[in-house]
Amino acid sequence: MADASAWAWVEGRVLPAAEARIPLEDRGFLFAESVYEAILTGGGVAFTGGLHRARILRSAQGIGIDPARVETPLDAAIRDLLRASSGRDGLLYLQVTGGAGPRDHLPPEPGLEPRVYGTWRPYLRSGLASLRARGLNVMTVPDNRWALGTFKTTQLLGAVLAKRAARAAGAEDAIFVDDQGYLLEGSSTNLFFVRGGVAWTPPLTRNLLPGITRHVLLRRARDLVMERDLHVSELASAEELFFASTTRPCVPIHQVDRQPLGPGTMGPITTELARRFDQWMSEEMGPPGGAP
Ligand code: PDD
Repeated sequence: MADASAWAWVEGRVLPAAEARIPLEDRGFLFAESVYEAILTGGGVAFTGGLHRARILRSAQGIGIDPARVETPLDAAIRDLLRASSGRDGLLYLQVTGGAGPRDHLPPEPGLEPRVYGTWRPYLRSGLASLRARGLNVMTVPDNRWALGTFKTTQLLGAVLAKRAARAAGAEDAIFVDDQGYLLEGSSTNLFFVRGGVAWTPPLTRNLLPGITRHVLLRRARDLVMERDLHVSELASAEELFFASTTRPCVPIHQVDRQPLGPGTMGPITTELARRFDQWMSEEMGPPGGAP
């Protein structure tokens, strides 16, 4: 059913998301030649919006879309969709594609005009509490995604298939492991492994996304969060394990490959990082719930 409170931004115009259309020959649709962001909003503010903006421009450049040609429409989309949010808690989605034109792997010279799309829909931060209380059951899977995971592209079929395989096996999410046995990340989250009072996360030299939540945790909780390679053989020795992403900041994992892991409730380091992260979100966006 169409969600009457979801908005889209297409070609400079805000309209109900259910009415938005994209061209059939958009290169994002035909070739996954596109990059995206998902950003929390509240109080009319995009949480860590500057970091997301910088990442989508970097991702665009990484796949050959000139960032200078999309900055202005991107800023307009963010501004207009934040206005449409009326200060409520929500999720802002932005996508930049290589443009629309007759299907050909190589676009015509001098290139197509890149296109910018966006949506905003209500999304309640308050749902996090029950997810954190419950914790996740995950499984490890080989990393069969493409190798340019550093860019946030819509090349997401590997993630979809991994999540589907996890569900078929009675789990809820997957942890990608590379062919040398190193842990990478979840299907749409970064991974953190707690031992000795530190939350370790794999370094960006591996095939994983430089998550904004990961970045904020590394920068603002230097006393508790650090980077290092993590081998799958170490999993059993984790004192706590958690995922972190825009929609899942600090959500504990209680089972991996059917083996219980950690204390079975949210451990002390995950709890402390979740508390700090919630505070940073409230400082920027106001308390959960949004404007009345
Ligand atoms: N996913 N790793 C992957 C593969 C991701 O897709 C994401 C984000 C993250 C975490 O990044 P961030 O902290 O910037 O959200 C890590 C988003 C939420 C999504 O696909 O909807």
